[in-house]
Amino acid sequence: MFSGVSLALLSSLYHLPIRMRPFPWSHPLPRRSVYCLFAILLATLGFKQPVGAQSTLALIPWPQQLEVHEGAWVMTPSTVIVRADSDESEAPAQLLRHYLHGATAFDLPILATAGNEDGTRLVFSHDETLQPEAYRISVTEEEVLMVAASAPGWFHAVQTVRQLLPPEIEHTDYGLVRQDIAWTVPRVSIEDQPRFSYRGMHLDIARHFQGVPFIKEYIDLLARHKQNIFHWHLTEDQGWRIEINQYPRLTEVGAFRDETLIGRYGSDRYDGTRYGGFYTQDEVREVVAFATARGVTVIPEIELPGHASAALAAYPELGCTGGPYMVQTTWGIFEDVYCPTDTTFTFLQNVLMEVMALFPSKYIHIGGDEVPKSTWEASETVAALMAREGLADQHEVQSYFVQRIERFLNGYGRQIIGWDEILEGGLAPGATVMSWRGITGGLAAARMQHDVVMTPTSHAYFDYYQAEKEGEPLAIGGFLPLEKVYSYEPIPEELEPEFHQYILGAQGNVWTEYMRSEEKVWYMAFPRALAMAEVGWLQPERKNFNHFQIRAKATLDRLRLRGVTGRAID
Ligand code: ACM
Repeated sequence: MFSGVSLALLSSLYHLPIRMRPFPWSHPLPRRSVYCLFAILLATLGFKQPVGAQSTLALIPWPQQLEVHEGAWVMTPSTVIVRADSDESEAPAQLLRHYLHGATAFDLPILATAGNEDGTRLVFSHDETLQPEAYRISVTEEEVLMVAASAPGWFHAVQTVRQLLPPEIEHTDYGLVRQDIAWTVPRVSIEDQPRFSYRGMHLDIARHFQGVPFIKEYIDLLARHKQNIFHWHLTEDQGWRIEINQYPRLTEVGAFRDETLIGRYGSDRYDGTRYGGFYTQDEVREVVAFATARGVTVIPEIELPGHASAALAAYPELGCTGGPYMVQTTWGIFEDVYCPTDTTFTFLQNVLMEVMALFPSKYIHIGGDEVPKSTWEASETVAALMAREGLADQHEVQSYFVQRIERFLNGYGRQIIGWDEILEGGLAPGATVMSWRGITGGLAAARMQHDVVMTPTSHAYFDYYQAEKEGEPLAIGGFLPLEKVYSYEPIPEELEPEFHQYILGAQGNVWTEYMRSEEKVWYMAFPRALAMAEVGWLQPERKNFNHFQIRAKATLDRLRLRGVTGRAID
């Protein structure tokens, strides 16, 4: 019933104060409703936006329910923030104050209760009947009311208010404070909550390193789009990137490689320049605190038993062959992996003790992907282990390895998450599986009643090309345009309904073999991360790619104001 033309018209209506139900175009509308919408359009053509108001509601993800009313709320230097009668509103209130201060220099007080203020209010209010991540917003001329049951819901409300403010709110440094902006929020009513509990973005800072300011910006953007998990890929063949006090050579030796491959894999050309970097434990604490202040959980990944060249170069006794080993200078999968000896387990347990002290997350990601078995096959130590433990093949050795680490982490109240290869040889009893080689691993794990995060290469690998055009910068291969990410449905069609509950959500992965600069990471991650954010938030019947594209374009314009340059939408 709704043609492309009327869809475009509807989209152009977004800045107008019409009352809208979400996604009228997802249902066939009776002819009378269409006439009614056009009548509203005509009736509102004379409306003038307040200065500084944005020209579109660039909300990502789109809320479950939204109504737009006439008029707007305006912030002034005498506006106050009022926290709810719950300590959990404190951090969201501080975050809102921080965002507003950064862009406006207004020094808004946070009050415990509303009084007889002269100015307008931003009010946090408590409703314990809501789900933990749910929130409501209602905007009148006097106040922006944000209702939630707990911190996650209020964090989401803050991000929605941020997106409803004029684009200049994206400025976070005082040099860009704008005095000429009318800081308005359109009068909306929103009821919202996510579809999935796990909405993640991954970043590999091992192939190419990014410093703390970049990581913070990445996390702030996750929070902006209501993604709640940052999966920090901290160790690799090409670099170990987290300081471990008990093993200083991990960063003295393991954090640096002699040189780096130039161009495509197999080019055999190297830059001849030493490359590396790592995070001190103080920096890690700073990042975790920054994420916590935004409602984002950081899941650290410590790769085992493979992708371990950097650790082996630092401590050769951890390998089966004794080395020599090197921090790798090219990409791929390397034969040398941790040897399953007591020396290795003691090392990994000590490392994980320090990791657990830094990261409060329930999950520790233990990698588990791409583990060649050749050094184990040739090892007498491994043969003896197999005989002693009754392990039938090398897959069972891998399973033994992962299960031993799982038992250790469980002893400290943590759970493991691993790439889908951890299914091979027997899945560790409490493991959550990250399904990346398509959906097969996810299907198998869910049917075994294990939790699953979906990150299939087909829809979630943002190191793939985004377009088939000439001039696209070098990428690892593959082809994953924005529309395909957006079309992703995390619950596989073939999965029986009783197992749907095990699909926790979805995540976009950013592997950085071919992303050295910050700009390249932004280019590859955005706007595809926006599409993944909406995949995790909205039910399939509520998604609409044309509408998303309009909002994503406007969002990219806003992000550009803060130096985040994604790939322009064609
Ligand atoms: C992976 O992409 N090797 C998990």
